[in-house]
Amino acid sequence: MTDVVELIERDHRELEGLFDRVLAGDGDRQRLLDEITSRLEAHARAEELEVYPVLTRADPGEKEEVEHANDEHHEAEHLLRMARALVVSPHFDEAFTAFVAAVKHHVEEEESEVLPALRDAVDAGRLAEMGIAFEKVRGELVAQPSAVTDLMAAAETPEPADATRDELYEQARAVGIPGRSGMTKQELADALRERA
Ligand SMILES: [Fe+2]
Ligand SMILES: [Fe+2]
Repeated sequence: MTDVVELIERDHRELEGLFDRVLAGDGDRQRLLDEITSRLEAHARAEELEVYPVLTRADPGEKEEVEHANDEHHEAEHLLRMARALVVSPHFDEAFTAFVAAVKHHVEEEESEVLPALRDAVDAGRLAEMGIAFEKVRGELVAQPSAVTDLMAAAETPEPADATRDELYEQARAVGIPGRSGMTKQELADALRERA
């Protein structure tokens, strides 16, 4: 049976492979970005639901580290939305590189601090059970990207002051809000809030 740490690390390597393909121009950029978005979000949500809370309960001393990891998920997802909004822009590479750097930083911390702390805090049987739970949530979300988008929209519908119109438009596009092209920033924010 594969334990949760191995599954998480395997998932990190697969995501990195997709990043390399985007950077090398190997394949359709939009299709690769869609795959990255669905895998990254499913991975992050599965960690937040099935891994981080177990670590915090088993070792409350890791609470701050886990909160920091949560923040880094949101930061990475924000940078990915920025890159997605620039998919046909000459600034895409810059935006995508910033996203990759943020993920790389998070993955390094996760693999050098969070996951070793988890291995110390729970036994092998628990790690295997967590692997099953992690894979279940992750698999369901990858198979159903709209469930992830809904979760994200509900979790962090930004206030108009915090987001640009482009970002709001991108979120509106992701959740399929009709008439979005003609909407002002405020109208987009309202429509997204209603959806959440
Ligand atoms: Fe991870
Ligand atoms: Fe993570």
